Amino acid sequence: MEETCKNVYITTPIYYVNDVAHIGHAYTTIIADMLARYSRLTGHNTYFLTGTDEHGQKIAQSAQAKGKTPKEYADEVSGKFKQLWDDFDITYDKFIRTTDEEHKLGAQKAFEKMYEKGDIYKGEYEGFYCVSCETFFTEKQLIDEQFCPDCGKPTSIVKEESFFFKLSAYEDRLLKWYEENEDCILPRAKKNEIVNFVKGGLRDLSISRTSFEWGVKLPDSINEPKHVMYVWLDALINYISALGYGSDEKEFNFWPASVHLVGKDILRFHSIYWPAFLMSLELPLPKHIAAHGWWTRDGEKMSKSKGNVVNPKEVADAYGLDAFRYFMLREVPFGQDGDFSQKALIDRINSDLGNDLGNLLNRISGMSGKYFDFKIDSKDVQKYHQKELDEVNEILENVEDLIFNMQINRYLEEIWKVLTIANRAIGDYEPWTKMKEGKNDEAMALVALITNIMAKCSILLQAVMPEKISMIAKSLGINIDTKLYNELIVDKGLIQNTIITKVEQLFPRIEEPLLQTAPEVKKDKNEVEQKEEEPDNLITIDKFFETTLKIGTIVEAVEVPKSKKLLKLQVDVGENKYRQVLAGIKEFYKAEDLVGTQACIVANLKPAKLMGMLSEGMLLAAKDENGLCLIRPEKTKISGTKIS
Ligand code: MSP
Repeated sequence: MEETCKNVYITTPIYYVNDVAHIGHAYTTIIADMLARYSRLTGHNTYFLTGTDEHGQKIAQSAQAKGKTPKEYADEVSGKFKQLWDDFDITYDKFIRTTDEEHKLGAQKAFEKMYEKGDIYKGEYEGFYCVSCETFFTEKQLIDEQFCPDCGKPTSIVKEESFFFKLSAYEDRLLKWYEENEDCILPRAKKNEIVNFVKGGLRDLSISRTSFEWGVKLPDSINEPKHVMYVWLDALINYISALGYGSDEKEFNFWPASVHLVGKDILRFHSIYWPAFLMSLELPLPKHIAAHGWWTRDGEKMSKSKGNVVNPKEVADAYGLDAFRYFMLREVPFGQDGDFSQKALIDRINSDLGNDLGNLLNRISGMSGKYFDFKIDSKDVQKYHQKELDEVNEILENVEDLIFNMQINRYLEEIWKVLTIANRAIGDYEPWTKMKEGKNDEAMALVALITNIMAKCSILLQAVMPEKISMIAKSLGINIDTKLYNELIVDKGLIQNTIITKVEQLFPRIEEPLLQTAPEVKKDKNEVEQKEEEPDNLITIDKFFETTLKIGTIVEAVEVPKSKKLLKLQVDVGENKYRQVLAGIKEFYKAEDLVGTQACIVANLKPAKLMGMLSEGMLLAAKDENGLCLIRPEKTKISGTKIS
């Protein structure tokens, strides 16, 4: 967000619809909402976009598992996201869905434009795909030659015709952009990671898939009906299709984005692919891409199987939406990981919100009521308190920069310093003593000083805690809007006369956690170790039995020409049935030594093509630093015997 910018465009990532919203999603959305509210208050023309990402293999698979069509499933989950943001009073201007017709038109137009420009070519993709992350990897990037380096889940080998985007051609232009735009990626440490990654070399990006259908079709002009767009290309385009790219272009004056807010896990997509796509489309690049860290709960990674995922609605219902917003924005420096615990939340509520903010308001209404019949007059504030005013104005003058640099926790810290000046002044000047001494003017000046400090802080906190701040504003008899912002913050002015109204306690003290806590984490060392090793994706026995494991006898084995790894095996799986299996074990076994031996085979694996040949199963094997060995029965068993 630039100070001079009249049009401000703020986006959240669009959320996958294969899961319900959790605290991580709420975090990004709350930051974006805070920025949007702040931008509107400070007089900018603001557009705030959020929405859902609904295509791709992952969503199709989740829908299938629930016995629904992908669209039915997407409608349901997308609706839940929207409902949550409405419950949270999130002030988005548009909620985009990638299944919206206008979005599809935008995505197709972008594809067509990049194709016409010569940045897209047809080829064949062969590599590893993680469905969970919807990301392609090279063999070198995999962990143990199989697992996704980002989420740890198994990848699958994909070999299919695909369109490619010439990402490699944009390497130099990207590096130049990073160099010339210091703050294009925030925080800086994350920017360095990206720059180094790009310097390491970029490969062209596969941007279409043929093995499933749940995606945006390629434009008719390309005439490739088998292909759907790679979900990340489809998804990133939402930022322009939402403004009418490819359809009515109605809001396109908001482009380029002022800030794309993203989690650190999706920064690469936003700071490498997205700018390259935009360069190809000859569109201006976003001003900032800001990556936040990840939330854990009570020091533990959140996962469904541990049952410790924080439900943001539950927290907001129990502790209050504004307290939750304040906690999220205050607790963690932007870009760093944060931990959610009820203890930390309660501490913030009781200390920052209850003692420092809520009590100050009580003191204003208490003193003004007792001494001045709730009437405040600021005429002598400068006479008696210029020093405090200067201190306050100096701090508040600089806080805006912190917002532009996404240092929202620091912004809040600075505002709290100002609240401390107010609380301290009451102790220093003791208005009750002044009243006893008959120095009513001085007492009034003090109460008016505090009221003005409270008004200034409220203006700057409105975007953070809209509901509670509107109660404070009501109590102070002020109306927080751009005009008042200009008068009190920009011009450093004072409210002259006002009447205080008593309000109920804003942040009642909380003694006990209000939510049932997450399953206890065992402190015993062995148990902790066990816990750490426990996989995230525990399954039920029924799930395990979905895999059919059988004893197979290898009846034929030959090397696959031109492959360093593959052997082609014919495996007898009983009842005179043979399965062709392509196994990556050539470095560890000679083909002829395998014939006649037995192995364990996954017998209900969907057939896949490897190097143009069908593979109809998988052999179980174990690999460590000493090499790989097949898992075999201890004694010979009849071919086809089920393993359980
Ligand atoms: N659909 C993509 C984004 C496409 S944007 C063109 C996606 N969706 S997501 O639903 O998986 O994640 C959305 C956001 O939630 C990401 O920014 C991610 O970082 C954030 N979070 C998911 N889990 C999180 C935490 N535990 N903590 C903080 N944020 C995390 O990625």
